[in-house]
Amino acid sequence: MSRGRKQVKRPLKRKPNIVLVGFMGTGKTSVGRRLSSQLRMHCVDTDDIIEQESGRRINDIFAEDGEPAFRQLESEAVHKVSKMCNQVIATGGGVVLKEANMKKLKQNGVVFCLTATAEEIYRRIGHQTHRPLLQTPDALAKIRTMLAERHPYYAQADYMVKTTGCSFGEILAYIKKVFQHTVARNL
Ligand code: S3P
Repeated sequence: MSRGRKQVKRPLKRKPNIVLVGFMGTGKTSVGRRLSSQLRMHCVDTDDIIEQESGRRINDIFAEDGEPAFRQLESEAVHKVSKMCNQVIATGGGVVLKEANMKKLKQNGVVFCLTATAEEIYRRIGHQTHRPLLQTPDALAKIRTMLAERHPYYAQADYMVKTTGCSFGEILAYIKKVFQHTVARNL
C-alpha cells in the first residue's frame, strides 16, 4: 500500500478556448491566427473544417445544396470544435444564428464578437468573390441589412470587440487581456 497523502481524483480543469464570432470581414481568421501563435494555442476555423471534410468549397456547397445544408455542416463542425480545448476557434459569420451552436461554443470557451461598420466591411471584402451571401449587385446594402438582422445574435457573445479604427495590436491586446483574466478567475 502506498503511503503519504491520499490522491483525490478530480477532473482536470481544461484550458478554455477563445471563440471568435462576428460578421464576414471583421477579421476573425487573421486575428485568430495571430492570437494562437502569441498565446501558443492551436487554431481551428469552422469554415476550413467544412471545406476539408466535404472536399468542396463553401461557394459550391451553397450553390449545389443550398444554405440549410451548409448550416447543417457548420453545426457539425461546431459540435466537433467545441469538444476541444486550448484552441482559438474562428467561426463563419452565420454561426451565431443557431442557439445550439452558441451554447456549445460557450461551454468551454470565451466568446468574442469582432465588430466593424458596414462601410468598413464593404471596404475590406466587397471585392471578394468567395462569400456566396455577398454575391449581389448591391453588396453594401446587403451587408447593412444582414448586420441589422444579425445584431441580436452577435450580442449573445461574452465580449464585443470593435475593430473599425483600431489597430491589429490593440485588438489582440484587448482579447488577450480579457481572456487571461477570465482564465485566472476560474483557476
Ligand atoms: C457566412 C460567413 C462565411 C461563411 C459562409 C457564410 C455568413 O464565413 O461561413 O460564406 O453567413 O456570414 P466568414 O465570416 O469567415 O466570411
